[in-house]
Amino acid sequence: MPDDTTMDAFIRDIPKAELHVHIEGTLEPEMLLELGKRNGVALDCASAEECRAAYHFNDLQHFLDLYYAGVEVLVAEQDFYELTTAYLRRAHGDGARHVEVFFDPQSHTPRGVPFAVVVEGIRRALVDAERQLGVSSRLIMCFLRDQSPASAMVTLETARPYRHVIAGVGLDSAEVGHPPRDFKEVFRVARDAGFVAVAHAGEEGPAEYISEALDLLKVARIDHGVRAIDDPALQRRLAGEQIPLTMCPLSNLELQVTPDLSQHPLKRLLDAGLRVTVNSDDPAYFDGYLAANYAAVQHALDLDRDDIAALARNSITSSWLPTARRDQLLAEIDAFVTAAR
Ligand code: ADE
Ligand code: ZN
Repeated sequence: MPDDTTMDAFIRDIPKAELHVHIEGTLEPEMLLELGKRNGVALDCASAEECRAAYHFNDLQHFLDLYYAGVEVLVAEQDFYELTTAYLRRAHGDGARHVEVFFDPQSHTPRGVPFAVVVEGIRRALVDAERQLGVSSRLIMCFLRDQSPASAMVTLETARPYRHVIAGVGLDSAEVGHPPRDFKEVFRVARDAGFVAVAHAGEEGPAEYISEALDLLKVARIDHGVRAIDDPALQRRLAGEQIPLTMCPLSNLELQVTPDLSQHPLKRLLDAGLRVTVNSDDPAYFDGYLAANYAAVQHALDLDRDDIAALARNSITSSWLPTARRDQLLAEIDAFVTAAR
């Protein structure tokens, strides 16, 4: 059994992809305060310590209230550029070779921030990071499920000219009471336009939302999927079809989706043959980026190096990278594991 330092280095350095991160959820308190000042947006906290002290959540809605208040400091293209650049540097430091990043246009456009400003700032940072750090990326636009399907459809139409920049569409925000079926038509139009579909399902909502997302939204991945643990037939389906689950352990802990990481279903689902991945969700709020999420489940669930390598491989095979780059990254994982023996 390797000691913790060796395991932490193994976790940090193994090549991997992050497939579930909300760019607005990477807004660290220091940047929140700086952008608040720059853009004249009043905040409820006056220091980074004070902001962080409020980051204790009873549930998803409690978190979302702070998250949507925080995004109000993001106004100019440069703000989105700096936010995304800061995230990419951290992800790179955590061994991410590829990232697939969510953004929430409906948290910006109603405040008068143009869609183009949001997308262009994020895109410019992604392009620079690929050149400077070698981190490749895809962009995924999420619809807020607690807003109307009509609002999602307007957002989708706004995004059409950016189809070459935005690879996929997702579904996030408050889950319970906002089932995937409400967005069936929006997702049909999105898929017809060439967007790949994903959806948050089974985070706070029931296992049935996972089945609905597969059957009605025809998603390529499930974001979270924690509640799959309640439904053995669904687990067999997810394993059989190798549908990726983009799980986010520290998020689940902080939002009390799981009472304790030792009870998190990640290892049970991995052992049942599901294509489980580890991700950070909203790392500025949940106290840890990609490697910290791997380390947290490694400790809590006593994962060994083979488990970590399986999770890293799953992150690559679940990505939307072209086959040649996937094969290259999988070969790099194999070489890394061999060299670490
Ligand atoms: N938006 C940002 N983070 C989210 C989460 N964990 N669940 C649903 N919507 C979100
Ligand atoms: Zn999420």
